Amino acid sequence: MHNTGHNHPAIIAALKEELDRSGPAMLQSHVPQLAAQLAQRLSQLAGGQLERVFFTNSGSEGVETAIKFSRAHTRRDGLLYADGAFHGLTCGALSLMSDPFWHEGFGPMLPGTQGIRFGDLGELEKHLATRKFAAFIVEPVQSEGGIRIPDPSYLPAAQELCRRHGTLFVLDEVQTGMYRTGPFLAAHHFQVEPDMVILAKALSGGLIPVGAVLMSEAVGDSVFSSLKRAIVHASTFGENGLAMRAGLATLDVLEQARLGERGANMGASLRHRLTVALAPYEMVEAVRGLGMLSGIEFTAPRSLRIRIPFETFRRIHPALFGQILVMRLFRDKGMLTQICGNNFMVLKVAPPLVITELQMQEFVDAVRDVVDLMHNSNTFWSEALGLVRRVVDL
Ligand SMILES: Cc1ncc(COP(=O)(O)O)c(C=O)c1O
Repeated sequence: MHNTGHNHPAIIAALKEELDRSGPAMLQSHVPQLAAQLAQRLSQLAGGQLERVFFTNSGSEGVETAIKFSRAHTRRDGLLYADGAFHGLTCGALSLMSDPFWHEGFGPMLPGTQGIRFGDLGELEKHLATRKFAAFIVEPVQSEGGIRIPDPSYLPAAQELCRRHGTLFVLDEVQTGMYRTGPFLAAHHFQVEPDMVILAKALSGGLIPVGAVLMSEAVGDSVFSSLKRAIVHASTFGENGLAMRAGLATLDVLEQARLGERGANMGASLRHRLTVALAPYEMVEAVRGLGMLSGIEFTAPRSLRIRIPFETFRRIHPALFGQILVMRLFRDKGMLTQICGNNFMVLKVAPPLVITELQMQEFVDAVRDVVDLMHNSNTFWSEALGLVRRVVDL
């Protein structure tokens, strides 16, 4: 969410100014001028038919909105999603995620949801043909799923199939939007015109909770079809002045510094440097990404010397190897990273779009050093095993 970097001074200044204005905050009956301005800019940047915007407080709430609006518009209940997706942890969004890890203990999920393989058009068409589905909700690049980039033909063909079968084509751009992959939306890479797009995270500079659902006029009108229904979907803090002001300031920063273009160029260079630096190591399977959203995929080693400790780790917990990597990068190198939530063998590389050449090189060197340690020194494994012994009863 830190596309503009941490605590950008221009966004902080805009927030202070907004507070000092003592404006008509949180009055659901006022005319939310800032929300209108932000909505207009978002819809112009998104293009296509995305002419209406509903503001939320998070990505998950955006997904809930997309679920309700697509049901209202199509008068169908079913919801299609891609296996490996991450859409959020509220009950509706959670029902669009296939991994049982996220469901356990939280009771029955929404009925009528169906997971399909990401990238499989045949499976998509088979389900669409039943005409039970209100929406196909999909990330253009699966982020938590392991930075999975679909074949260039997948999303345009999926959109075409959705149109043919009366199902809304909804893109979750919570991670990929706001210039993360280069253009304003990842949709722009694939030349698709979705019926709805969900944004959140970087929209307010990482400083204020916010989300936005962009949609066509027809979809918006099917929920807000009369004055009587004007409040059927709403949220107290939805259009609050601070989030809106932060959103406007964030767009100013992103546009003035042309951070999308910068991120695209720097991201390609980052992947090139990582690919070269990590080429000698057997556990590095791939470096891939789009714009400034990349991943380093690791794989089980073949050589016995490191295969044994790797398998021990995997048996304790499948995410353990990745967590040790993250811990080492943080403790030894001061680099804060994450493994993907739904793919524990992929290290996510998504720095702010303002990252400098020098910072990028420091990161590449740090990853190379830790990966080298993993391949060539017993301490990576033995020390980690010691740590694990303290918290897990081995
Ligand atoms: C693609 C995607 N959609 C939705 C969400 C949920 O957003 P939030 O955590 O703001 O509810 C996330 C969160 O990581 C996400 O990555």
